[in-house]
Amino acid sequence: MAPSAFVAGATGNTGQNVIRMLPDLLKSAGEDYRILALTRNMQSEAANEFAKIPQVEGLYRSTQPTPPPSKYTGESTLLVAMLQAGFKPVSTVYYGRTHWTIEEALSHPDFAALQWTSLRAIILASFTLGATTQWVKGYRRTGEQTALKLTLGKYDKVAAVDSDDVGRVVATLLALSDPAPHNKKRYIIRGAEDTTGQDIVDMVEQATGAQIEDVEWRDTSIIDELPKQGYPEIFVVSIRTSLDPIWPGKCTVDGVPTSKEIIDLAPPTTTAAESFKALIALDAPGGV
Ligand SMILES: NC(=O)c1ccc[n+]([C@@H]2O[C@H](COP(=O)([O-])OP(=O)(O)OC[C@H]3O[C@@H](n4cnc5c(N)ncnc54)[C@H](OP(=O)(O)O)[C@@H]3O)[C@@H](O)[C@H]2O)c1
Repeated sequence: MAPSAFVAGATGNTGQNVIRMLPDLLKSAGEDYRILALTRNMQSEAANEFAKIPQVEGLYRSTQPTPPPSKYTGESTLLVAMLQAGFKPVSTVYYGRTHWTIEEALSHPDFAALQWTSLRAIILASFTLGATTQWVKGYRRTGEQTALKLTLGKYDKVAAVDSDDVGRVVATLLALSDPAPHNKKRYIIRGAEDTTGQDIVDMVEQATGAQIEDVEWRDTSIIDELPKQGYPEIFVVSIRTSLDPIWPGKCTVDGVPTSKEIIDLAPPTTTAAESFKALIALDAPGGV
């Protein structure tokens, strides 16, 4: 039987590009792999998309979102199962608050045999632009303006990375014939360029032809409303901390350079305008 590549989070912002790119990258590398894409919902739009790719098989897992106290129990159980099954290499996408715990677990000698690379995406463009794209869709539907709520301040700069760029790195790493140089490494990925809150307003005005009347800068309602989407309350506190380095301008092109290894493998190239265009074309929910 052909060896398998297992992609958890395959239907997410990041995972979708892994699934799109991996078949061709593996083929160019002369590797014959089955690609197993994990999802809890085989009927979703993303699951339907990957079902069209011949090398990709959907792997259904019935589970509800795991509440925080048992979150790491679930994750460590998965990691142990992967270790026991002889998985290699593993490429993971984590950030800020959660990657420390997972990297710590993976750094334990018990996981020495498991190959992994941790990608620290500083902030995804779907997060900084997500609410904006909903505004554009609402305006196009009704012709009426509501307040445009931005997590950035007018002059706050951030180099948010497009999830497709992160997915491209994951697929490139997975398709390497020798991923050993990247084993147990932690790499930082930030976006191709800095964007300010004002830049985002300009993009919205350009896309709609409207002059935005009311902007709420540094608005956190997109985070505060997460419990309504089923996220646990504690998540709000956790996600809010991701703004702590962003507002003072620490997550910029100069502030958080992308790791050299990522520049060599698959550097992020997507501009904020390209991310915005792609998001308003999709019915994108945004991501945290
Ligand atoms: N958004 C950001 O700003 C940001 C920045 C850096 C890093 N990150 C991290 O990067 C990772 C990917 O982010 P993303 O935005 O691509 O995620 P996303 O779009 O929210 O997708 C999450 C994926 O995980 C799967 N999933 C969720 N709960 C699961 C469970 N209990 N068991 C199995 N699968 C489950 C979902 O699959 P199904 O629904 O199909 O089952 C989906 O494919 C996440 O860990 C995120 O925290 C995000």
